[in-house]
Amino acid sequence: MLPDSLVFTADIAAELRNFLQSNEYSKILLLCDTNTEKHCYPLIKEVMPKEISMRVAIPPGEEHKRIETVVSLWDGLTRQHFDRKALMINLGGGVIGDMGGFAAATYKRGIDFINIPTTLLAMVDASVGGKLGIDFEGFKNQVGVFKDPTRVFIDPVFLNTLPERQLRSGYAEILKHGLIANAWYWERHIESPWREHPWATIIEHSVGIKQGVVTADPFEKGLRKILNFGHTIGHAVETFFLKEGPVLLHGEAIAVGMVAEAFLSTKLTGLPEDQRDAIARYLVDTFGHVEIPDKLLEEVVELVGQDKKNEANVVKASLLKTIGNCTFNIPVSSGDVIDSLFYYRSLGVQA
Ligand SMILES: NC(=O)c1ccc[n+]([C@@H]2O[C@H](COP(=O)([O-])OP(=O)(O)OC[C@H]3O[C@@H](n4cnc5c(N)ncnc54)[C@H](O)[C@@H]3O)[C@@H](O)[C@H]2O)c1
Repeated sequence: MLPDSLVFTADIAAELRNFLQSNEYSKILLLCDTNTEKHCYPLIKEVMPKEISMRVAIPPGEEHKRIETVVSLWDGLTRQHFDRKALMINLGGGVIGDMGGFAAATYKRGIDFINIPTTLLAMVDASVGGKLGIDFEGFKNQVGVFKDPTRVFIDPVFLNTLPERQLRSGYAEILKHGLIANAWYWERHIESPWREHPWATIIEHSVGIKQGVVTADPFEKGLRKILNFGHTIGHAVETFFLKEGPVLLHGEAIAVGMVAEAFLSTKLTGLPEDQRDAIARYLVDTFGHVEIPDKLLEEVVELVGQDKKNEANVVKASLLKTIGNCTFNIPVSSGDVIDSLFYYRSLGVQA
């Protein structure tokens, strides 16, 4: 069941107005980036109470999801005398939601915050599960907390201005939901051109899958780890390209990770080869093939070593038994990690 804090709407301004009128906040900080300020803020501007609101627009991009930005937010909140009855509104993609939520959850030991996700990725993934945080020392989401927003308002209207590459990045997480939990959902997506998918319905369905898993295991002690399918290798790939360039979008890196981990699934958890090949074919066709430099092959074991699912320095991955059935805590050797990227690389040779 979906929590009351999660609101699907086709009229974001009306929802937000109702919410603000029924809660007495002392001050409001709206956090956005310069893109969401331009494209998304106009849709809610009229309902923001002018006398108590301020707005901060940071430059867009993952490279700003860092402690220096959070410090500047804490600084602004302190200087403007925000008290514990204040509210933060995070209007943007996963970067704004993760980081703004983290700043709010830690300022004065926590003030209310609401998330208004404006990317497909943030709607289907970052909107559920209460994970907040920042990147640190080059590692993704290295510092953070679990805390649910007071409200999440999901309105697909924001997708109208989202660049296609960003839309596709979110689609990777939707595909992951099918791969880990629902074979029918996966099949349904790969049968028709992805650009024409009915996003409003899909968002609700995907959020439902994620919420079901998160409710069963809120703090990722067990089952919730299945949501990390594709992310052990995917995060390593994302971190590498964040450092070395060209930067990959989150979903693009996770698409590489899902192909590599489908390979590991066949080797370690019995995913049939024809299913592995179908996954690889669709993901490479849809997301293109990323060239894997030798340097990444040299560094991937070290990068994967930072994964939060590891225990006692053993890499543990979430892998598929079949499409729609995922298992977790599977130990993966360094050799397997490297082999999985060689497998991914070989697909480019064939293409
Ligand atoms: N908390 C979680 O559970 C969770 C889950 C998945 C991903 N994440 C995090 O989310 C982040 C990635 O999120 P993202 O892909 O949304 O990235 P993002 O926040 O960087 O947004 C992507 C780009 O789209 C622009 N944009 C956003 N909405 C727009 C709109 N409606 N119109 C035009 N442009 C728009 C942004 O300015 C940015 O340039 C990563 O940091 C990842 O770690 C968190």
